[in-house]
Amino acid sequence: MSWRWSGANGAAKNKLEEDEVPSNYQSVGLVIGVTGITGNSLAKILPLSETPGGPWKVYGVARRPRPTWNTEYPIEYIQCDITNKDETLLKLSSLTDITHIFYVAWTPCPTDAENCQVNSKMLRNVLQAVVPNAPNLKHICLQTGIKHYTGDFESFGKNLAHDAPFCEDLPRLDTPNFYYTQEDILFEEIDNKEGLTWSIHRPALIFGFSPYSLMNVIGTLCVYAAICKHEGKKLQFPGPRAAFEGYFDASDADLIAEHQIWASVADQHAKNEAFNCTNGDVFQWKHLWKVLGEQFGIECAEFEEGVSLQELMKDKGPVWDEIVKENKLCPTKLEEVGAWWVVDTFFSWKELGLSSMNKSKEHGFFGFRNSTTSFISWIDKMKVYKIVP
Ligand SMILES: NC(=O)c1ccc[n+]([C@@H]2O[C@H](COP(=O)([O-])OP(=O)(O)OC[C@H]3O[C@@H](n4cnc5c(N)ncnc54)[C@H](OP(=O)(O)O)[C@@H]3O)[C@@H](O)[C@H]2O)c1
Repeated sequence: MSWRWSGANGAAKNKLEEDEVPSNYQSVGLVIGVTGITGNSLAKILPLSETPGGPWKVYGVARRPRPTWNTEYPIEYIQCDITNKDETLLKLSSLTDITHIFYVAWTPCPTDAENCQVNSKMLRNVLQAVVPNAPNLKHICLQTGIKHYTGDFESFGKNLAHDAPFCEDLPRLDTPNFYYTQEDILFEEIDNKEGLTWSIHRPALIFGFSPYSLMNVIGTLCVYAAICKHEGKKLQFPGPRAAFEGYFDASDADLIAEHQIWASVADQHAKNEAFNCTNGDVFQWKHLWKVLGEQFGIECAEFEEGVSLQELMKDKGPVWDEIVKENKLCPTKLEEVGAWWVVDTFFSWKELGLSSMNKSKEHGFFGFRNSTTSFISWIDKMKVYKIVP
């Protein structure tokens, strides 16, 4: 048993020293969505000297220019809009040395049906640009998530068709879901290259760092806490009692990156499989809420039913601008860093939906995280990178 998936959290070297930059590489990873919440962790972990399968050369793709908080990682950054087939072909087909693809991107659309259409096209564009042109391509990791079991946004949490804990072999639901269409595209494209293997990774709510992430609950809660502190208000939990007192699981972004790297280099018996990927423990928000208050030095309010973060935080743009200026933070706009809808949606989930990690363990992945420690570490990172005071 080796490296991080033995469960030895933090055992690997966290920094690649300059004199350690390798002259030749054993593996070449293409991270699609490298500035996202998991993508940023892959950009950090893949190039480390002790990462299995390495030394890794890493290409990282995102649509916007490279943000400063991602520049410390030794990767080749490629700005490309993967909804555009021609641009994707032009920019990715020349990367003929790719051995592994880590697909950790998505884009939101107004309806589940549109989500299926657009997100499938993005994946197809990438695979059609890379699979025929990278002769050494061995493995593709596709990140989807727990909505595989609960339904996509329109049906999210409303009618749990499956009993928790969710296992990977549960049948698909009869509702449009971009995870299903992405899986089908992956299976079709895999067939075009003999010996190419795949893995699908299904995290729960992700605890990680990316001010660009579309669904970053910790980042959003940090911004909310900073605004409450600035205005001298108590920290009120924005959700129903079921969310405050229920049991939840989460997925640390570094753990997900480790899980994908494990699947990429694992023995054949762990290939061509879908795996849940969660921290391996459960938590209650009423406990993490106190932790959030402590981290920002503010008092938590008594629980009150019916508070919506979108409602509480509307019109707070100028307050956030003031906080950024006063504290000399990395310049951000409130709409970029405060994904209120994500927190409101997530906390509106009335039933519990825990995932089983048995299959991963049975196949040899023993990594885990303490969710409270994970929560604190990502809050720290938000402060260190001066996204919040
Ligand atoms: N976040 C969670 O809590 C969570 C939980 C479970 C499952 N998931 C699933 O995990 C998958 C990945 O989501 P994520 O949350 O990790 O992503 P994310 O943090 O929102 O990041 C998305 C990444 O994709 C890139 N991207 C988006 N559109 C692009 C385009 N047209 N061309 C090139 N790059 C593009 C973004 O770059 P730009 O910003 O430059 O566009 C960014 O780097 C999704 O299927 C999601 O449903 C997420």
